[in-house]
Amino acid sequence: MKAIVLNRYGAPEVLQWQSVPDPVPGPEDLLVEIYAAGVNRADLLQRRGLYPPPEPRPTHEIPGLECAGVVRAVGERVLGFQPGDRVMALLSGGGYAEWVTVPYRLALPIPDRLSFVEAAAIPEVFLTAYDALFERAELQPGDTVLVHAGASGVGSAALQIARASGITGWATAGSERKLEAARAFGAEKVVNYRQEKFLERVQEWSGGRGVDAVLDFVGQDYLEDNLKALAPEGILVIIGTLSGPTAAINLGWLLSRRLTVRGTALRSRPPEQKMTLVQRFGQRMGPWLADGRLKPVIDQVFSRDEVGSAHEKMEANRNIGKLIIQVRT
Ligand SMILES: NC(=O)c1ccc[n+]([C@@H]2O[C@H](COP(=O)([O-])OP(=O)(O)OC[C@H]3O[C@@H](n4cnc5c(N)ncnc54)[C@H](OP(=O)(O)O)[C@@H]3O)[C@@H](O)[C@H]2O)c1
Repeated sequence: MKAIVLNRYGAPEVLQWQSVPDPVPGPEDLLVEIYAAGVNRADLLQRRGLYPPPEPRPTHEIPGLECAGVVRAVGERVLGFQPGDRVMALLSGGGYAEWVTVPYRLALPIPDRLSFVEAAAIPEVFLTAYDALFERAELQPGDTVLVHAGASGVGSAALQIARASGITGWATAGSERKLEAARAFGAEKVVNYRQEKFLERVQEWSGGRGVDAVLDFVGQDYLEDNLKALAPEGILVIIGTLSGPTAAINLGWLLSRRLTVRGTALRSRPPEQKMTLVQRFGQRMGPWLADGRLKPVIDQVFSRDEVGSAHEKMEANRNIGKLIIQVRT
């Protein structure tokens, strides 16, 4: 098969298709012919050599954390899938390819209403958002959450899931165009962090109480204000560190207001945990993806020869929602 292999790290030009051996499914794997693959921030880091794949290291380092395609073969212990099924899957790598193998419990059926391109926009950001809202932040209907980067892939998913679940979503973003998008995804209130301090807006909107949870991708630059934006017993979920990973905090704030800071990463989790998450997500969110309450947000679809351009667009923060590579038409 053809795949994009990271033989060297660097600029988007290193993303070149080459021939590699076809993957062979194990007893619990699906062999999937990929039609579309999602681009993620982690892929940008991996391309630069800053996010190595988990052990055991594959012979060929193929990026790509999610895909949508058709099952062409199943291992002997696979349950619930058969050749011909349309599936979307969470991967630890290997999505920038024509074929991939994936444990069947990391795959979900694609709802009939969704295309392969739309389905490839789901696994990474919707699973991350679902996990952050419910399993990390433990939010309940009636709670309020502040979602940073409200027009990002994860942000767009989190705001939609929050709205559908009766959780009030507020969002930050860096431009009017992105604020408008965040509103459409479900944010009831939005703030342009380039023009105003989000902390002041949150305090004003909440009458000084703060929010029950913050979903953060920014890290370093926001840590202090994120903690100050939380209500007593609030939970800060660290999902990314776009501004840097190191920050000092006043531990006194944690004590006096009984705050919690939690980190989360999907790729490095033990396989069993990932499988449990995918199955729970499928049960709770699958029906909402099928009836259109939750919609994957596609910013742009790139051909298989334009993967470098997709990386450049994401690096420049120009996307609203997901960038997708159409591997096969
Ligand atoms: N932990 C996990 O398992 C997991 C899974 C998926 C994604 N992530 C992380 O979640 C984050 C979002 O991913 P995504 O795919 O949704 O990204 P995305 O669609 O590319 O959006 C990221 C947005 O963040 C904003 N941003 C970038 N740098 C910023 C900074 N220094 N300060 C404030 N805002 C900044 C930009 O929007 P504005 O123009 O509005 O600033 C940018 O468009 C990334 O850090 C990614 O690595 C983590």
